[in-house]
Amino acid sequence: MVVKNTAVVILGASGDLAQRKLIPALSALYDAGEIDDTIRIIGSGRTELTDEEFREKFNLTGGFRNLLSYHTGMEGLRSYIESAGAFEHIVFFLALPPKVYADTAASLYEEGFRKNVTLIIEKPFGYDYQSAQELNRRLNEYFDESQIFRIDHYLAKEAVQNILVFRFANSIFYPIWNANYIESIQINAFEQIGVEDRGAYFDGAGMIRDMVQNHLMQMICLLTMEAPVSLDAEDIRTQKMSVLKALEVEECYRAQYEGYRDEPGIASDSQTETYAEMKLKINNFRWNGMPIYLRAGKALHRKGTEIGFKFRRLPKLLFNRDGSVEPNTIIFQIQPSEGIVVDLSSKIPGNESRITRTNMKFCYSDSFSGEIPEAYQKLLLDALKGNRTLFVSAEEAEISWRKMEKVLDKGELTMYPRGRMPVSRFQIDWIDFDRFCPVCP
Ligand code: BG6
Repeated sequence: MVVKNTAVVILGASGDLAQRKLIPALSALYDAGEIDDTIRIIGSGRTELTDEEFREKFNLTGGFRNLLSYHTGMEGLRSYIESAGAFEHIVFFLALPPKVYADTAASLYEEGFRKNVTLIIEKPFGYDYQSAQELNRRLNEYFDESQIFRIDHYLAKEAVQNILVFRFANSIFYPIWNANYIESIQINAFEQIGVEDRGAYFDGAGMIRDMVQNHLMQMICLLTMEAPVSLDAEDIRTQKMSVLKALEVEECYRAQYEGYRDEPGIASDSQTETYAEMKLKINNFRWNGMPIYLRAGKALHRKGTEIGFKFRRLPKLLFNRDGSVEPNTIIFQIQPSEGIVVDLSSKIPGNESRITRTNMKFCYSDSFSGEIPEAYQKLLLDALKGNRTLFVSAEEAEISWRKMEKVLDKGELTMYPRGRMPVSRFQIDWIDFDRFCPVCP
């Protein structure tokens, strides 16, 4: 279904997000025939710009360029949009600082935008449990929950979406997906870059707020939830909420890379973590007793988002008498390359019975041709079509904050050298991710 007769209004259109992500994503959707010439893309911001000046900010050609226009400020926005076309649906993307989300929603409401309106906002949705509740309360004063689309761009990553397919479209995994067979789940969200030019924002947030409360909690839900009754947004949400309710952080350690405090926008005595590691538990029948370990950090030795499943050791009876047979592992690599690797034991050919590790790999790039679409394309298209599956509900955002509350800004902060992995405080049998990742070079 091609999206038609819709106005996409970007509030804060002279900023970086419109330039880097939103306009390129909309342009790609236009090229792919997903949206047509009845769409208008209206930029709005405080900077005064003519339509032509606005268009020139982007490197665009062809028909799509003519769909763009610009209106300064909020005043008169409604009559401006009405004069641009007879739209059935108006989608507002709030590319604005989160602290003005609620006031912007109020202004839109006062301007008369009420029905057939969608609001898209991006994390952070609040700063803690209380502020998240307050934000949701205020947004819901003006708009119905069904009109609010909260983006978590991890949910639109192709390999993250494949988690549900892998789990629920492959019968071999279904029976072993529980604490009886899996000893631990280990999740990495490693970045090589530091905070760069985002110091002012990051120093007020830290790794737990920036990555764990949102992206990693969402991934944990997809990895561990029960099969939903259907793929409808509401059914998926119900299962995600069950996981979030049962989830507990058992331990958390924080660290900061050396030199962080000298970076622009960072307080000289900052106690903000640039690395966090946690042990979590899901107190339900399927996962009872099985730990989930996660590590998320900046300025580490490599970039990589990956999820490892460590299976239980076999009894020491046959090949494993001396404990030399390693347990199986499965790794999903989300990025920078997308792939899955299953680590297995195998006999080394020859007369002696010697066992070694070998593996089976699936690389997206080998199996599928063409570019993997950028996350924002998928998210914008879904929001234009009103499909809420990949968006975070008010409830999910709030409960994730509640679960993080006991560790936010708490505990000792250790230091680690830039470009190195901090030594883990968990004395566990970590999966040797560096041996497998990148899964698909
Ligand atoms: C953002 C965080 O939500 O996700 C950033 O604010 C982080 O700090 C980024 O770098 C990571 O996203 P990706 O898609 O590069 O893994």
